[in-house]
Amino acid sequence: MDTQVGIVGAGPAGLLLAHLLGREGIDCVVLEARSREYVEHRVRAGVLEQGTVDVLTETGVADRLHREGMVHRGIQLRFGGEGHRIALSDLAGGRAITVYGQQEVVKDLIAARLDAGGPLEFEAGATEIDPDGGVIRYGDGSDELRCTIVAGCDGFHGVARAAVPADALTVYEREYPFAWLGILARAAPSSEELIYTHHERGFALHSMRSPEVTRNYLQVAPGEDIEAWPDERIWEELQTRMALADGSFALNEGEVFEKGIAPMRSFVAEPMRHGRLVLAGDAAHIVPATGAKGLNLAVADVRVLARALAACFAHGDESGLGTYSERCLRRVWRVQHFSWWMTAMMHRLTGDPFEARLQQSQLDYVVRSRAAATTLAENYVGLELEDV
Ligand code: FAD
Ligand code: DHB
Repeated sequence: MDTQVGIVGAGPAGLLLAHLLGREGIDCVVLEARSREYVEHRVRAGVLEQGTVDVLTETGVADRLHREGMVHRGIQLRFGGEGHRIALSDLAGGRAITVYGQQEVVKDLIAARLDAGGPLEFEAGATEIDPDGGVIRYGDGSDELRCTIVAGCDGFHGVARAAVPADALTVYEREYPFAWLGILARAAPSSEELIYTHHERGFALHSMRSPEVTRNYLQVAPGEDIEAWPDERIWEELQTRMALADGSFALNEGEVFEKGIAPMRSFVAEPMRHGRLVLAGDAAHIVPATGAKGLNLAVADVRVLARALAACFAHGDESGLGTYSERCLRRVWRVQHFSWWMTAMMHRLTGDPFEARLQQSQLDYVVRSRAAATTLAENYVGLELEDV
């Protein structure tokens, strides 16, 4: 074998796996299709669960995260022109979330990997994987990496999941009749905490990256053309949806320097292991972004996988690998449900009046009942691995 673990993809899942395995003295090679510049600047998620911050901290890659990340102990739900605070930390045993961009986590993990001298090859996309033989073909197709285990961490559009024979995989999927338009703008945050807004014109979310940069999202039609959304239209729509009835809220505006539209999808492929191939992160599952869970779920998979591989390579104990899929899927489905529930509660759905009244009732209940708010809070900050 050329290496013990061949990791396909240098997103959060692949990079964290390489970092955790490196600390256990396990040999691995990371192959990434894109350039370093590209993966370090790909703008995506921004909310880290307590457990995600903990694993990065315990393994020594969180110095900048603790300097620059913003710890939040609550979020606001806004609907009917009024804001309601969900006190995350009070409701969820003191736990909190940290707002820190996914691409910053990626930069920190790449730096750690390169400092440790671990192999990480950019512009070396896998073209074919043999899940039984543990072979990855990559680059122009003539390069080959032979591995004891192949970790498919190559995201939703990668090649790893496709390498599993179709009759060995069960897929569960749902597409939503809306997408998110996201922007980054040079503007100070307009609130200390994130604001999730339900409005008859659609969902809006106010988030941030630093005291100078905000991240805002708008529900738009699926397949919407970004050209149809000049900056003025985006700001006007955000202001309309996020307004408070008493006129006391105005969103700070500024230069928009990043703009994109992401589809909303729920997807799970089971099982997450076939032969020598294991899947982790978006390669195995996707959640709609409303619960801020995609990145955190990728991290949770990798924590379970790294432990299983450590036992396997240290003393030939394959029991953890045997239960990897089952253990991960319990959390995956809990998070699928939470993300679907948040999505259904916060967005403009079909316009059907019965559905709209149910949605209104659900929103009222979540902000009035401590039990309902606790359900939201404990899922949002992230359930501990053992609790799922
Ligand atoms: P990825 O981050 O997708 O990493 C996979 C890596 O594999 C990539 O670097 C890719 O270039 C590489 N790769 C692909 N094919 C190959 C190949 N053949 N060979 C080698 N390498 C390959 N989550 C949220 O919680 N909130 C958000 O706002 C949010 N926004 C998102 C916006 C977009 C456009 C997308 C796509 C996702 C978003 N997510 C969001 C989800 C979150 O970013 C993902 O869940 C997270 O990136 C998962 O990490 P990962 O490492 O599993 O996959
Ligand atoms: C962000 C993204 C999310 O999906 C979310 O639910 C909250 C915040 C963000 O990018 O900041």
